[in-house]
Amino acid sequence: MTVGITGPTGGLGSAIVDEILNRSLVPTSDLILITRDESSAKAKEYAAKGAQVRKGDFGDVSTLGSAFKGVDSLLIMAPGHHAGPHGVKYQIDAIEAAHEAGVSKFYLVSNVAAKAKSDFSPAEIHYEVEQHLEKKGYDFVSLRNGFYLSVVDTFLGNALKSGTLTAPPDGQIAWIDRDELGQAAAHIITGKYKTNGKYVDLVGSKSWTLKDAADILSKVTGKEIKRQEVEPQAFTDGAIAAGVPEMWARLTTAIATCAHDGDWSKTSGLVEEILGHKNKSLEEYIEAQYANKA
Ligand SMILES: NC(=O)c1ccc[n+]([C@@H]2O[C@H](COP(=O)([O-])OP(=O)(O)OC[C@H]3O[C@@H](n4cnc5c(N)ncnc54)[C@H](OP(=O)(O)O)[C@@H]3O)[C@@H](O)[C@H]2O)c1
Repeated sequence: MTVGITGPTGGLGSAIVDEILNRSLVPTSDLILITRDESSAKAKEYAAKGAQVRKGDFGDVSTLGSAFKGVDSLLIMAPGHHAGPHGVKYQIDAIEAAHEAGVSKFYLVSNVAAKAKSDFSPAEIHYEVEQHLEKKGYDFVSLRNGFYLSVVDTFLGNALKSGTLTAPPDGQIAWIDRDELGQAAAHIITGKYKTNGKYVDLVGSKSWTLKDAADILSKVTGKEIKRQEVEPQAFTDGAIAAGVPEMWARLTTAIATCAHDGDWSKTSGLVEEILGHKNKSLEEYIEAQYANKA
């Protein structure tokens, strides 16, 4: 069975590919990596290890038929900000080109917060792509990912400078290390770990609030970090006034407001079960990133 992976040189994609290669989860020649740039350092590294590396760009459908030829099972990477306003179209175009080329099983990079209406716009994009697969009746598994631990930096960088973590009222977030997420995904998309159902939550086994994050940062740096709650609109306006592009200001606000609604609160032991060890915790992440930085 051949396994195709789009987005193989990005952060999550390369964690998936590295795990497949390091653990020989499929014969290397059955691994087909579809990237926008076959001449990148990562693409060359994977080709040198024996993977098939092909050019494919969701924004240029003429590249996709040959890219997906001979692929049995395919991971569709969400292109995120790289797709600009075309997030849904790019993924649907890729899915349809893959179906046409004979792909029989799809794995989707989605988000645990995926839903029809959300302040967090990527959640709507993921949901729409999932719904496309549902309507078409294709065989698929949606990997509903949690927030990467590194996203907490969005709040902690400023907090460390000012001594105050300012954000709208939030809720629990089951943060997860991106590499661990990718490693677990590698076992699922190669069929080495069998999941049940079409939706699989790849989230942390514990959850934390931004107040917890502020307290951990205080402990790690020895500098007192207070947690200040502000109204969402005031937070967005303040970020824009400070020079943050409007789209990012809105997304950052939505991280807190959607967390407040419980969108990222789900925890799961699945990633730990697949990898056979505990998830990296928020405490470990903040210690590694911020110790000696006050
Ligand atoms: N869960 C979270 O906390 C979180 C945080 C940030 C983002 N995300 C989402 O998860 C995705 C993966 O995260 P990441 O950290 O790996 O992001 P990333 O490092 O930016 O990688 C995304 C990859 O998507 C591929 N891609 C982009 N545009 C494409 C196009 N037009 N056609 C085909 N492939 C395209 C690229 O792979 P190649 O360069 O190999 O072509 C790119 O490297 C993101 O794209 C975003 O949707 C999730």
